[in-house]
Amino acid sequence: MAGSYNVLVTRLIPQTGLELLRRCCQKVEVNPHDRDLSHRELLEKVAGRHAVLCVLTDRIDATVFDAAGPQCRIFANLAVGYDNVDVSEATRRSVMITNTPGVLTDATAELTWALLLAAARRIVEADRFFRSGRWAGWGPMQFLGGQLAGQTLGILGAGRIGTAVALRSRGFGMSLLYCDAVRNHQLETQAGAQRVDLHSLFEQSDYVSIHVNLTPANRHLVDEPLLRRMKPTACLVNTSRGPVIDEAALVRVLRDRRIAAAALDVYEDEPQPASGLVELDNVVCVPHIGSATSQTRAKMAIMAAENIAAALTGRRPPNLVNPEVWKD
Ligand code: DGY
Repeated sequence: MAGSYNVLVTRLIPQTGLELLRRCCQKVEVNPHDRDLSHRELLEKVAGRHAVLCVLTDRIDATVFDAAGPQCRIFANLAVGYDNVDVSEATRRSVMITNTPGVLTDATAELTWALLLAAARRIVEADRFFRSGRWAGWGPMQFLGGQLAGQTLGILGAGRIGTAVALRSRGFGMSLLYCDAVRNHQLETQAGAQRVDLHSLFEQSDYVSIHVNLTPANRHLVDEPLLRRMKPTACLVNTSRGPVIDEAALVRVLRDRRIAAAALDVYEDEPQPASGLVELDNVVCVPHIGSATSQTRAKMAIMAAENIAAALTGRRPPNLVNPEVWKD
């Protein structure tokens, strides 16, 4: 039986999540447009809601909490990352913030490998060449790329997704390095990974894959001096958050062939790529699709809806990122 709750969903999500919300809430309004709400629209739409299911492109800050009003208990973010939410401001106001961890690990790890392979073997460039009609037949020096077997993969950030990416490297016969503040025993025992510092990771790896959260300390963690430590044959992959890399610096090192290639799912100023990025043929770019499988997006929608249902019915949401606000 639906309670008299009023919920805003800021982008259309899979039906399973909406059905769950409709079972527990009398009013569920979904943004009807195939685009984000502008900040002004968001401020108008949140007013009077008991809960908001938001997405990573919504900036959820004090202005939004003010506009929503004190009856609004929860903002459930449809993402594992929640750098778009001012969590300390939410906590100060006892508003619950939740995310969707775990369910997108496999999808994101799989995309990371798709990107890594595409960049290493120049798949996009070769596809474009083939379609252009310029191929005149097989050649011994055509589209030489980098091999994976026997090479070293470096994982920056060995949490859930970094670990899933690293474990998949066993199938390719690669050596593993990782850099993380915390020791990862699973990677060391199951995959023979060696923990190294940041500089060594970038100097020794043939492929570096980034899996850290975006925090103020991690903004431009991968800067030009660090990029210039990489091998000239190395390849960089990022499926975490764009601002972790100084994207303008990445354009320079790719253009100067200081590194061989990069593959990106995320950008510093989405949806805008850094100047010169898309003109380069040694970078593969996809539009933030790490978790974009039907199975994963359905699970994310259910998870976000369950967090809202719990919060509105007096239960602790399973994926609370600011547990300080929960009082038994
Ligand atoms: C996340 O969940 O943080 C991804 O970037 C989008 O699904």
